[in-house]
Amino acid sequence: MSAGEEPSAPAPGAEPGRLVARALSAGDPTGWFEPLYAAAEEGAAVVPWDRGAPHWLLTAWAERKALNGDGRRALVVGCGLGADAEYIAGRGFAVLAFDISASAIRAARRRFPGSAVDYQVADLLAPPAGWREAFDLVVESQTVQALPDPPRRDAIGSIGRMVAPGGTLVVIALARADGEEAGPGRRGRSPAPRSSPSQPPAWRRSRSRRWPTPGRSRRAAAGWPSSAAPAGEPRSRPPVSA
Ligand SMILES: C[S@@+](CC[C@H](N)C(=O)[O-])C[C@H]1O[C@@H](n2cnc3c(N)ncnc32)[C@H](O)[C@@H]1O
Repeated sequence: MSAGEEPSAPAPGAEPGRLVARALSAGDPTGWFEPLYAAAEEGAAVVPWDRGAPHWLLTAWAERKALNGDGRRALVVGCGLGADAEYIAGRGFAVLAFDISASAIRAARRRFPGSAVDYQVADLLAPPAGWREAFDLVVESQTVQALPDPPRRDAIGSIGRMVAPGGTLVVIALARADGEEAGPGRRGRSPAPRSSPSQPPAWRRSRSRRWPTPGRSRRAAAGWPSSAAPAGEPRSRPPVSA
């Protein structure tokens, strides 16, 4: 299915909440991404976080820094359908973008034919050894927050290890209130970026404002309490050292 087309409703069994619950009960916290992207490919589901555009926090940060990759290497973690990766490539980086879902990677390649981005299927929890400290810029947008713990801590450590010495890590995530159980994010609670006030927040352009984030329990995954708030500025250094 192409960007802009509207499926009427998810096919029975292809709703993200059900896919999450099924994967968690099978002990496979990342096992719901591939079936969701595969269903979306057939027009039977919507990928709720698909903005069809780079995340505004990423573009605001890059604009403010006048980011210029100058051919340096960047890694986009959990790249989904590729909008952030394409944006970073457009700012002069040699970009490798990966996702655990083969359907997502196929869709990204289809969406951006002739792209300079190297799209690969890979698992953040078992990345190729050659990626260690290999990237001057690493962008992680809403992948860690979509994982329960475990394996969230391992995912954070893995991301930190891929940043080259002196490199930059950008993390985009939603925050939750103190005491609130991990749960689905409500996209776009964030204000428009000050540096590009003309750009509407992503959620105003989105078809679906909610998407699931597996919590500590199946109830959280299925129940979706949500009062998520934006994490604010992308961070510019790894939270976890190698
Ligand atoms: C919530 S989506 C965010 C996608 C994209 N970064 C964005 O901001 O639109 C999380 C993405 O991470 C991918 N993902 C989840 N676990 C992963 C893993 N272990 N390794 C690689 N990708 C993973 C999913 O397939 C999905 O595309």
